[in-house]
Amino acid sequence: MAWPTTRSQKGIRPTVDGETSPRLKQSDPSLSLFHLLEPEVLADPYPLYRRLRTEDPVYWDPFLHAWVVTRYQDVVRVLHDFSAHRTPTPEQLSKMDLSALSPVACVMVRQMLFMDAPAHTRLRSLASQAFTPQRVEILRSHIQELTDKLIDAVIFAGRMDVIADLAEPLPCIVTAEMLGVPVEDRHQLKAWSADFAEMLGNFQHNPDRAPRIVRSVEDMTAYFRAAMHEHETHPREGLIHSLMVAEVEGDRLTEEEVIANCIVTMVGGQETTTNLIGSGTLALLRNPEQLERLKADPALISSAVEELLRYESPSQHTARISPEDVEMGGRLIRKGQAVIAVMGAANRDPERFPDPDRLDIARRDNRHVAFGWAAHFCFGAPLARIEGQIAFATMLARLPNLVLEPGPLTWRDNLGLRGLKALPVKFGNLPSSRSALAESPSRTDGASVLNLDVT
Ligand code: HEM
Repeated sequence: MAWPTTRSQKGIRPTVDGETSPRLKQSDPSLSLFHLLEPEVLADPYPLYRRLRTEDPVYWDPFLHAWVVTRYQDVVRVLHDFSAHRTPTPEQLSKMDLSALSPVACVMVRQMLFMDAPAHTRLRSLASQAFTPQRVEILRSHIQELTDKLIDAVIFAGRMDVIADLAEPLPCIVTAEMLGVPVEDRHQLKAWSADFAEMLGNFQHNPDRAPRIVRSVEDMTAYFRAAMHEHETHPREGLIHSLMVAEVEGDRLTEEEVIANCIVTMVGGQETTTNLIGSGTLALLRNPEQLERLKADPALISSAVEELLRYESPSQHTARISPEDVEMGGRLIRKGQAVIAVMGAANRDPERFPDPDRLDIARRDNRHVAFGWAAHFCFGAPLARIEGQIAFATMLARLPNLVLEPGPLTWRDNLGLRGLKALPVKFGNLPSSRSALAESPSRTDGASVLNLDVT
């Protein structure tokens, strides 16, 4: 997730490298990540990434006022060594004409995603106590039940929109369950999450949306504060309560820290997982031989999800700040300059992945960076993997002859979070039996979910 480094569209103006770095090299504006706003680049950003990797792998983006790194080894180095502490100060926001966003920055400085050690280590270890492998396993049975119920709702129609009917509601309900808030609130959580995701990916290009995003963050804060107070008198299983009581050597999270990290977990868990299920389904449909291979050998599901994460990374890039003057790819990155690490490009780097533009669900040595790297490696990766595995396995097992509906596809105009707005598909009208996973005895504790009307 990137915090903006640019000015508003009205004030946008390219700068040459020389304004910020002594290593003079005129940047080619046609390589700017700003082109991701163009529909054809949004639909297929990989030619742009290929040009960046080969022509200027450590590129000064004159529109985004940041370095852009696209080679696998450089992305790993940036994620490993550079500072995540990138929330702008009120003064920096004012310089970018974005003072209105100060209340949002106040929440973000308390989120683990935007912290360095030791503050990050402290927060992450407290949060890890709250989000244990056992908790994720309990959610597994909910996820299978939910997926089956969502598929039940469309199976007789013979067609569905994978985004609206599965990829959005599934993570949305799972997130509410994970947090321990009423599942009926999921539409509100989804709307807030979409606003926050817009801010992380895009708002600098649409500053008029700032007041709405600030209102959303204030409403979210009030919501989680009220939920915490409710949990004090009526504790309920979930991340909110676990964060409230997590303790390491007498250290506890403050109320503001619990709220800020519930927000980052809620946002982190929704848009990205929706995009994994949506873009992953599209990738399989566009590569029918891989889809058939997975159907024939369901044991490939874990490896297939890793490959889909690599091939169409839901979170395309993130940002860091250079902790000191650093030489990289023959360029000098000055201390304090912003660096955008493009995981979507690193994951297609031929130096790391042979034949990177080929989808291969059995790919070996697939150490992609879709979940990031090192200290900030995705906190929710085990949950996201389970959601993806169950969603793809269940669709393939229950929806025979799955094909795309004819018509153009539209991608969300979010620079950082890559995903489709809709994915209409058709399938054979013979309902197949529920998946083997769905029949497993571990489904017994999904009763609360079974009572849900998810249609
Ligand atoms: C396919 C789904 C997902 C993808 C692709 C994804 C991707 C990422 C990436 C790339 C990062 C690192 C960002 C950086 O280093 O700047 C990250 C961090 C994070 N993710 Fe995820 N994520 C996914 C699902 C989830 C889920 C389900 C949750 C919630 C349970 C979650 C919560 C978080 C949190 C809290 C962080 C911050 C970790 C830290 O700073 O230590 N994510 N995610």
